[in-house]
Order: sequence, then C-alpha cells, then structure tokens
Amino acid sequence: MEIPLYFYLAYKDLDRLSPGSDDTTLKAIDKIDIDDNKMLNILDIGCGVGTSTILLANHFENAEVEAIDLFKHYLDALDEKISKNGLESRVFTYKMDMNDLDFANEDFNIVFAEASCEIIGFKRTLKEWKRLLKPDGYLIISDVSWIQKPSSKSVKFWKNIYDEVDSIESKIGQIKNEGYEFIDYVIVPKEDWNSYYNKLEKNLNKLGSDKSAKDFVGQIKKEINHFRQNSDDYSYVFYIIKKV
Ligand SMILES: C[S@@+](CC[C@H](N)C(=O)[O-])C[C@H]1O[C@@H](n2cnc3c(N)ncnc32)[C@H](O)[C@@H]1O
Repeated sequence: MEIPLYFYLAYKDLDRLSPGSDDTTLKAIDKIDIDDNKMLNILDIGCGVGTSTILLANHFENAEVEAIDLFKHYLDALDEKISKNGLESRVFTYKMDMNDLDFANEDFNIVFAEASCEIIGFKRTLKEWKRLLKPDGYLIISDVSWIQKPSSKSVKFWKNIYDEVDSIESKIGQIKNEGYEFIDYVIVPKEDWNSYYNKLEKNLNKLGSDKSAKDFVGQIKKEINHFRQNSDDYSYVFYIIKKV
C-alpha cells in the first residue's frame, strides 16, 4: 500500500497514535492480578510507534513482549525505542496483519491493544483473540465507547466512522456473552485527548499548503472539532478482561 507523504508528516514525532498517556495505560494494567515476577509473554497488537509496548516491558520486568503492526514505518520507530531502552533481548517487533495473527494458541499471559481493535471490530476481537490467551490470561483492549447518553450529532458522526461505538454497559455485556470474566474498565481522560489532538493539530497546520492533503486534513480537523464540542459523549475506554 502506497502511503502518501502527508500522512507521515501528520503523525511525525508523535509519541502515540491515539489519545492516551502512560498514567492511563498504567491504571488499566494495574487492574490485573498477575505475578509480575513470573516469566510472562505479552502481545501488543497494532502497537504503532510503541510507547505502550515499552511501558509494558518496563512494567513487567521479566516479560517477553512481542509487538505487531501492519506498517514498517511505525515498527522502525519502535525498534529505535527498544534499542534506546536496551530491551533488545526481550522486546520483538513483527510486521503482521491483525486479520491473520501468526501465533500459536495459548501463547500469551496478556494480549494488549490500545486504540486498534476497532480495525477488526470489538466483537470480532473478543471472538478471535481468545485463542491467543493462556488460561487465566488477560485481554486489555481500548475501544471508543459512549460515556453518557450521546447527542444525536455524536451518534451520526460515529456511525460513519465506527459503527460499534456503544455504551460501556453494552460492551461489558458483549464481553460476558463471549464467556470471559469482566474485571474492570478505565476511561481515557479528556486531558489525554487534548494533549494528543493539540500535537496532531500543530502538524496538520504545517500541511496547510499541501493541496493533496486537503481532504485528509479536513477529515481529521472535523474529528478534532467534533471531540472538542462533544467530549462528554465518548472516549476510548480500556476494558480489562480475563479468560476463564
Ligand atoms: C490508532 S493507531 C494506535 C497505535 C498504538 N496502539 C497507540 O495507541 O499509539 C492503530 C494502529 O493499528 C495499526 N494497524 C492498522 N491496520 C492494521 C492491521 N490490519 N494489522 C495490524 N495493525 C494495523 C496502524 O498502523 C496503527 O499503528
């Protein structure tokens, strides 16, 4: 797939490709009950530039972390972080499509995916990724969810982007229906969105004179403005889920 230059420039130097922060990711990770000293196997799916991959590796000091993404460009950025942090012996990157995950059944104690499971959809994620978890393993995934009864404007807006946006209660129901134990959830706070969008917006403004980027820039700016006007309606929510 040919990626236009403006796409790379829009996300240039961002330390994450979604609204989030180390604090929020740690809050989600801290919900699981696992022996940190054990040799753990962790998979980060749709890792992007890998800020959370590194956080997982630093948090679980005896873990081996495998991180996959479809785009080599992002994996190169993560490889740089791995070598800066001296983690080459236990963090590994692979270019892989989440539609076709080349891992054996019951390989992982933790499967983590931040702002990426929407690519295949929350319901399909729950079904297809269960096989990757060891018994008592944890799935930690974030997905866009309603955090209050949304305005009709927000419903219409998201319908065109991701039609699985749903209430937290419905998502918990879907988790239980798939036979998992639901542990808890963590809402990504507004500060994380604002910090992400402020950085992204700065990059987009630098693309102002690039005519080929006009539609792309317009679409992202629409998303940013929509969030700023409707930030009480939705957020990414981390769901902490156990395979039983
Ligand atoms: C919104 S970004 C989130 C990245 C990272 N988890 C974060 O929160 O910063 C979604 C990521 O999924 C990756 N991606 C998109 N389609 C994919 C696929 N089919 N298989 C694997 N990764 C994919 C993108 O390249 C991107 O890095």
